[in-house]
Amino acid sequence: MNQTHLWNEVDRYMADRLIPRDDVLESVLEANRSAGLPPIDVTPAQGKLLHILARMQGAKRMLEIGTLGGYSTIWLARALPADGRLVTLESNPLHVRVAQANLANAGLDGIVTVRAGDALEQLARMDEERTEPFDFIFIDADKPNNPGYLQWALRFARPGTVIVGDNVVRDGNVIREDSDDPRVQGVRTFFDMLADNPAVTATAIQTVGSKGYDGFMIGIVSG
Ligand code: SAH
Ligand code: DHB
Ligand code: MG
Repeated sequence: MNQTHLWNEVDRYMADRLIPRDDVLESVLEANRSAGLPPIDVTPAQGKLLHILARMQGAKRMLEIGTLGGYSTIWLARALPADGRLVTLESNPLHVRVAQANLANAGLDGIVTVRAGDALEQLARMDEERTEPFDFIFIDADKPNNPGYLQWALRFARPGTVIVGDNVVRDGNVIREDSDDPRVQGVRTFFDMLADNPAVTATAIQTVGSKGYDGFMIGIVSG
């Protein structure tokens, strides 16, 4: 049994015990597949981690950067109280359409707003609209723009806001300082910004599983 296969089997073992079968979430993955979306959603175990973190924090207002088909969106939105809201940003028109259908199917279309368009542009527009701070922010779009997304996340944060970043390890490529991959450099600059910012208490956790070897950054904004 090779290592990747073992990670997959262990993910399955834990999910079988801890993550009940969910027709809505399974239909999301099926709809994404049919529409040809890339299978780069968070795993079930990771989705549930996001859900638990958001619930632990009591988040009422959430921001997600990078929707895809709304799989992580649904895990997060299900952590909201009845009057909670989630805004999710997506630039690919096909992804927007599939996500909107998936969210409606999940009964979350009244709670989640998908803002179509380039995330940096949408964030600037939200700033002009005087958008209220968010309690929980999940950064999971194009990695070269992670530094910009972190700046905006801090702008839309309040003391106590939790910021989570996906894909911060990428098979260990994050440590290749000479990498000419803009995704690697985007994540490295993101880490440097966190290192230099005393207002964010941050850590990062390496993960293995059905999506291979990767990791999450988890941070909390202080007063
Ligand atoms: N959070 C999702 C996965 C997101 S994949 C989940 O776990 O289910 C990353 C998404 O970011 C893709 O759908 C991609 O189209 C989108 N994206 C890439 N560049 C973007 C940009 N500049 N602005 C907004 N969305 C972008
Ligand atoms: C990719 C993006 C993601 O957000 C992810 O979780 C995995 C892969 C990608 O662009 O390849
Ligand atoms: Mg991701």
